[in-house]
Amino acid sequence: MEGSIQTLRYLAEEILEDMTLDEKIGMIHGGELFKNKGVPRLGIPPLVMSDGPCGVRADFHPDEWINVGNTDDYVTYIPCNSAIAATWDRALARSAGNVLGQEARGRGKDVMLAPGINLKRTPLCGRNFEYFSEDPFLTAQLASEYVKGVQAWDVSACLKHFALNHQETNRLLVDEDIDDDVLEDLYLQVFKDVIDEADPYSIMTAYNKIHGEFCSESKFLLNETLREKWGYQGFVVSDWGAVHGTKEAAEAAIDCEMSVTNDFDEYKLANPLKKMVEDGEIDESLIDEKVIRILILMLRLNMIGEDRLERKDASYNTFSSKAEVLDIARGSVILLKNDDNILPVTRPAIKDKKVLIIGENANRIHSNSGGSAEIKALYEVSPLMGLKSRVGGGTKFDYIRGYCSKPDSNAVDNGTNWQELSLENGGGKQQDGTDADKELKEFRAKLRDEALNACGDYDYVIFVGGLNHDIDSEGVDRRDIELPYEQNELIEALLEKRPDTIVALIGGGCINMSRWIDKCKALLFMYYNGMEGGSALAEVIVGDVNPSGRLPETFYYSEKDCSGVSVGDFGDENMVHYRERFHIGYRYTCRENIKVQFPFGYGLSYSDFEVSNTSYNSGMREVKLTLKNNSDFDATEVIQVYRLPDEMADYLQLVGFEKIYLKANSSIEAIVPVKDKFGIGNYAVGKNVLELVKIV
Ligand code: BGC
Repeated sequence: MEGSIQTLRYLAEEILEDMTLDEKIGMIHGGELFKNKGVPRLGIPPLVMSDGPCGVRADFHPDEWINVGNTDDYVTYIPCNSAIAATWDRALARSAGNVLGQEARGRGKDVMLAPGINLKRTPLCGRNFEYFSEDPFLTAQLASEYVKGVQAWDVSACLKHFALNHQETNRLLVDEDIDDDVLEDLYLQVFKDVIDEADPYSIMTAYNKIHGEFCSESKFLLNETLREKWGYQGFVVSDWGAVHGTKEAAEAAIDCEMSVTNDFDEYKLANPLKKMVEDGEIDESLIDEKVIRILILMLRLNMIGEDRLERKDASYNTFSSKAEVLDIARGSVILLKNDDNILPVTRPAIKDKKVLIIGENANRIHSNSGGSAEIKALYEVSPLMGLKSRVGGGTKFDYIRGYCSKPDSNAVDNGTNWQELSLENGGGKQQDGTDADKELKEFRAKLRDEALNACGDYDYVIFVGGLNHDIDSEGVDRRDIELPYEQNELIEALLEKRPDTIVALIGGGCINMSRWIDKCKALLFMYYNGMEGGSALAEVIVGDVNPSGRLPETFYYSEKDCSGVSVGDFGDENMVHYRERFHIGYRYTCRENIKVQFPFGYGLSYSDFEVSNTSYNSGMREVKLTLKNNSDFDATEVIQVYRLPDEMADYLQLVGFEKIYLKANSSIEAIVPVKDKFGIGNYAVGKNVLELVKIV
């Protein structure tokens, strides 16, 4: 419903007048695993929530973490948020939100629990694939577009996890020790920027504590900052199981308690709250405020009120959604190395040739795991399928597994869902160190030999490996950034025998490749790239698409190169110290001159670009430049503008970027708007944080 929040508030207050205490309480806690109770007597439907962010999650039974198991909840699989960030393309981020909002509406959901916008403070966080970037500007810019896309469908986006949810280890208990200015100007500012730009109707609180207070009960975070200081009037929902105290949550400006257990009436904001109101310990007006905010949300979504017949309808699994996710996937593939122009392997070159594809990730799907981001994808094109189907019958393809992962260490095979147990043992852990027992090692050696024995017989060898959601997953942090499953041994040996092997890695974050990177000539990386990820990778390999993805995070050699955040910081004391202050990611490595494998913003293309005539117009706050494509391919370049360190901010920071499309052998005058909260500064322009030219 259109109208100012104030008008909606009057309407909500009128509706509230007719509600009993029980009905109000039914609105502010889960009555099912993903719904509140609504008020059927007054025609108020339950508020239906669902996970994202990679698509609308499968339907669960109301009170059990068991999939309903119908065929109607297969959906479009959208590239994960890191993959969206790798496009550096606002229009594609909007498109991702558009697909999610449309499908959510099609599936009858009201609030999509996405996007996750926590910054990638450490490469070890198991949920990094759900987050956009280590950089606050890139995150806020793309997340804002995503939110606008979702909400165009009368569906609410839900920013999560507010705030500082940067690790899975002990996520239910961990306390964040952080300086106030860093908390406010870096980590909270990202949320504020998205709120100011895109008006997300919902926010989810994080599990962890900040300064000793649980986020879901924090007066500082919710009452003083979010509501009073920022004036946020949207809906605040707890993470599932993040509320601990009835009084604390009643007094905090959180609106609805959700959890993973099915004793709904015993939730803190259910019977225990009712009793405290009846005993006069809690004022009913606190409940009224929460209900009013939920009703305002429902009015905004046209779920109730006189405009409810106007609520948008939508379809899911449409052909246009598939085309949209393919476009995002294409824009997200990152070319990291291309010595001797090994890539692309053009269609005429590959025709009638023999191609060997090696690696488990060539033949594996990722959509069905990873924690709450898992979905039932309508389909998922693997790289093997993508290559074969793209190139056609003239080429002979063979596949050899080459390595194998280990059986999923997170799986619980007693019929329970991981989420049901997710409130146990601090809510998360770090991966154990053991990769394989003797038997598995022998099996891997056999797979490796098979690949090595065969690789000499082919015209082309393509290896597809990397990580999977046993590693990039909710509830588990990575132990280190090493390539698992003895892939290093395999790649090293492969490159020895076949120096022309094309290596493609898939994962949710950075991977140490130092054992073989100097010997590898052609290297591609993509994040979990949606249902058309395999098609996009194939299109890049054969040159139908000129790669244009750029790293939205630093690729370190070791996790120890990252602001001192390493395994030890996830220690037993349940306290994380943000000693690095503002210096996360590239801000730190650039300042300390730490050598990295690939810097933030990095990515190659099949074309050469030339940037010239850069100038900064301080009145318009924009950088102007000439960009030239010196190649015979149409191409897309990402121009990045950074603010140089000075006494106002002693770190490099991204303040502008544009993704620019250029025809072969053409040039363009481009403008990159700069958003610098300091107003003045010195700027540099370039293709990544290490290749910058100061604008004079
Ligand atoms: C996750 C949230 C998710 C919720 C509902 C929690 O475990 O932290 O991100 O939205 O579950 O599935």
